[in-house]
Amino acid sequence: MTRAGCAKAGRVSDVAQALLAWFAANRRDLPWRAEPRDPYRVWISEVMLQQTRVDVVVPYFDRFVGRFPTLQALAKADLEQVLALWSGLGYYARARNLHRAAQAAAALGGLPHTAAALGELPGFGPYTAAAVASLAFGEQVALVDGNVARVLARILRLPGDPAQARAAAWEAAPTLLPRGRAGQFNEALMELGATVCTPRAPACPRCPVAAFCQARERGDPEAFPAPKQKRERPQLSWAALALRRSDGALLFARRPDGDLLAGLWELPSAAAPERATALEAAALVLAHHQLRTSAAGALRALGSVAQTLTHRHVTLRLFAAAWKGALPKARESLRWIEPASGDLAGLGISSLAAKALRACGVVPPARPVRASAQLPLLR
Ligand code: ADE
Repeated sequence: MTRAGCAKAGRVSDVAQALLAWFAANRRDLPWRAEPRDPYRVWISEVMLQQTRVDVVVPYFDRFVGRFPTLQALAKADLEQVLALWSGLGYYARARNLHRAAQAAAALGGLPHTAAALGELPGFGPYTAAAVASLAFGEQVALVDGNVARVLARILRLPGDPAQARAAAWEAAPTLLPRGRAGQFNEALMELGATVCTPRAPACPRCPVAAFCQARERGDPEAFPAPKQKRERPQLSWAALALRRSDGALLFARRPDGDLLAGLWELPSAAAPERATALEAAALVLAHHQLRTSAAGALRALGSVAQTLTHRHVTLRLFAAAWKGALPKARESLRWIEPASGDLAGLGISSLAAKALRACGVVPPARPVRASAQLPLLR
């Protein structure tokens, strides 16, 4: 985007002024926005907010910083505890990177203050680095997330699909930054995208920068950015076994590092073709976990559950069996857990695993939920 392109959208300072005035009067009161900003809390919120809505994030954030109130506390935590507090938020690589980055930053004596230095830490992409640097440390850097890309694509009529509009928005955003107020401006743009300049039915009559918006002027804001070409989601077919010991304990398995949902606990599972019979599917699971096939009693089919995981759609067929014979030797990645004991609450459990547990009649550990009435403005 050229400067001329931006100028067409009105004088830079007019756009920024209108936006900042609107934000001062309309900003949502969110737990990570308390002044003075705590860089650690800003960072945690920014990581949680990637791919996740504000109203879902708020209770997870409160619980997370309640348990790990400082960078040092997070650096010292077990990954297991971190994943347990992340259970249900999805995109678990975020939690693993957060933990590694906390250890790296604690070793440096704290979070670095610039986007360039933050960008060296695990999991800090250009967005997160710029968000922490500008919101928490006042660095004069621009940022673009999905909301900002949409707002700028509309104001400037940036052509292309969301990925192309995002690339163009990264070029345009620095030209709009008001001097000395990058943090507020960045946050105001994100807030506008989340609450006014929404993907569908944007509230243009309420928009503080409608007068500068080229898409609004032409009457087609919803056409920006252009829709993404839909690609088929890969479909994965898995099977899981609820293996119950005579005292009621269920066998749980930890997903291996480097795999989908790495480090999270679930009923032992494996890839199993849709056409596999119940016995074949169970045999695949047992073999995958090196459990002796003769050990499981008669199989009961419990139906299936499904979940979209990071762009893949997983269908999980469930089978239950009583565990008979010798118990598997204790291993790092296998545990017998009595569901009523409360031990599950200390483990990371994916939403898919929680659905599978419910289908077996086991109540998974509660997740934090925010009563919507408490935060009527959240979108
Ligand atoms: N989305 C991600 N970070 C945000 C922030 N700080 N304010 C509003 N929306 C956001």
